[in-house]
Amino acid sequence: MLFDTHVHVNAEQFEEDASETIERARQAGVSWMNVVGFDPVTIEKALDFADTYDFIYASVGWHPVDAVDMTEEHLEWLEQLAAHPKVVALGEMGLDYHWDKSPKEIQKEVFRKQIRLAKKVNLPIIIHDREAHEDIVEILKEEQAEETGGIMHCFGGSLEIAKECLDMNFYISFGGPVTFKNATLPKETAKEIPMDRLLIETDSPYLAPHPYRGKRNEPAYVKLVAEKIAELKDIPYSQLAEQTTANAKRVFRLAD
Ligand code: NI
Repeated sequence: MLFDTHVHVNAEQFEEDASETIERARQAGVSWMNVVGFDPVTIEKALDFADTYDFIYASVGWHPVDAVDMTEEHLEWLEQLAAHPKVVALGEMGLDYHWDKSPKEIQKEVFRKQIRLAKKVNLPIIIHDREAHEDIVEILKEEQAEETGGIMHCFGGSLEIAKECLDMNFYISFGGPVTFKNATLPKETAKEIPMDRLLIETDSPYLAPHPYRGKRNEPAYVKLVAEKIAELKDIPYSQLAEQTTANAKRVFRLAD
């Protein structure tokens, strides 16, 4: 009974075998997934999956790497999509200082616009934070994002940053990196996150957990993330699975 809260089976890497991939995830105990769209093509596909499978939900947002491409029409389109019954969050949105396609100032503006939209349509937000922890926290504070709350996706920051996000009504989600042998920070952070604010994800096809590191990730592997966090927290796997699924349903406002 696992909930993969962040997956891109809508990515081109699954063009050939998305339905088989989804079936493998079901076999591995993944009962629900949130398919995240981040540009016009992946958003349309995310909605297709959500319309096709009753256990798949969708999130729609504009990725910070492509911030320069977002127009007012796109923002209006996101607002319309927010009314779709299977759309459970806006995102992913945020800041990405690793790639330099979009200047920081434009990324920040596009991020702020999406937070404001989320407040307007009353949906939680999914945050993509790459090498931008301080600026993310600052903008979340300035925009009073605690009103929507949401998810820090594939969290890679320190415990100190995590606490600031927890204070603003955010859940902290961990993926493959928590299983990497040389990754001490996500392990230390995951261990300390309160059980009622913890989520698991794969971010498939990216960031495959050990022992698949470097290969294509898929939602079935969220089990490996769950097992590792249960081990770090020294609790039974079943407890970790049950609690993270309940958390996911709470943040996405789904009935039990
Ligand atoms: Ni993602």
